[in-house]
Amino acid sequence: MGMKIVVIGGTGLIGSKVVEKLAAHGHEAVAAAPNTGVNTLTGEGLAEALKNASVVVDVSNSPSFEDKAVMEFFRTSTGNLLAEEARAGVRHHVALSVVGTDRLQESGYMRAKLAQEKLIKDSGIPYSIVHATQFFEFVTRIADEATDGNQVRVPPVFIQPIAAEDVARAVGRVAMGPPLNGIVEVAGPQRFRFDEFIRQGLQARHDPREVVVDPNARYFGAKLGELSLVASDKAGIGEIRFEDWLNNSIRNYDRIPPIKAA
Ligand SMILES: NC(=O)c1ccc[n+]([C@@H]2O[C@H](COP(=O)([O-])OP(=O)(O)OC[C@H]3O[C@@H](n4cnc5c(N)ncnc54)[C@H](OP(=O)(O)O)[C@@H]3O)[C@@H](O)[C@H]2O)c1
Repeated sequence: MGMKIVVIGGTGLIGSKVVEKLAAHGHEAVAAAPNTGVNTLTGEGLAEALKNASVVVDVSNSPSFEDKAVMEFFRTSTGNLLAEEARAGVRHHVALSVVGTDRLQESGYMRAKLAQEKLIKDSGIPYSIVHATQFFEFVTRIADEATDGNQVRVPPVFIQPIAAEDVARAVGRVAMGPPLNGIVEVAGPQRFRFDEFIRQGLQARHDPREVVVDPNARYFGAKLGELSLVASDKAGIGEIRFEDWLNNSIRNYDRIPPIKAA
């Protein structure tokens, strides 16, 4: 018999894939997000959505990454969600966070993710936290954040990025299993120098920005150690390689018909 599994952020990049996978395994997967009438910040629609749910998967994200806004988002939405889960008798809370959250605390975003994790651990609700490395899909967002004029400045460190598809598979598997009351990591199958990863991502899109290694460059506000973004050797490893993902995503992109002049 399938379970009712509510996916908060179920319309997003990871969430929509998780919903699809859970449904394919015979579960009643419900995508919850503001445009399906569920808002974890205001509490709107939450009680109704969680009725008879066995599991809640939280893969929502803050619309703003600004320090205060992102902290407010994860604190308030996680607090509302956990309180409602306790009322509804939810038996497993699954959340997606970032590999190295605890070592990247100079970043406001990572402080907010750690606050989210602490609320979950302290809630008394059985839980599992999945720590993923940076998504392939995030490569241009990372570049934009590190752009100075026509240069993208990144530190001399390693990165072990992963396809959203592989992340969703891992999150789905955890959601269907028993609560771990702990953290599991997932990461991509290759380790890159940070500059090499960004350069490949930008070149595939004919993005003219130059990628430069700069020991003083930060990652979303955080100074990185050589292995800050790399998963531990216990991490689950995704199947999709970056070059295959690039080829596929570029092909899909090319398939979108060009806008014709009137
Ligand atoms: N990007 C990375 O490299 C990376 C790495 C590791 C972990 N993560 C984590 O992965 C998670 C998911 O990221 P993503 O890229 O899949 O996010 P995304 O595509 O931006 O999707 C975010 C989802 O959250 C929903 N949402 C926003 N505000 C909400 C609210 N008030 N109430 C309920 N739902 C709300 C959005 O709904 P609407 O579309 O209706 O606004 C959307 O469904 C995040 O927690 C992030 O920390 C990211």
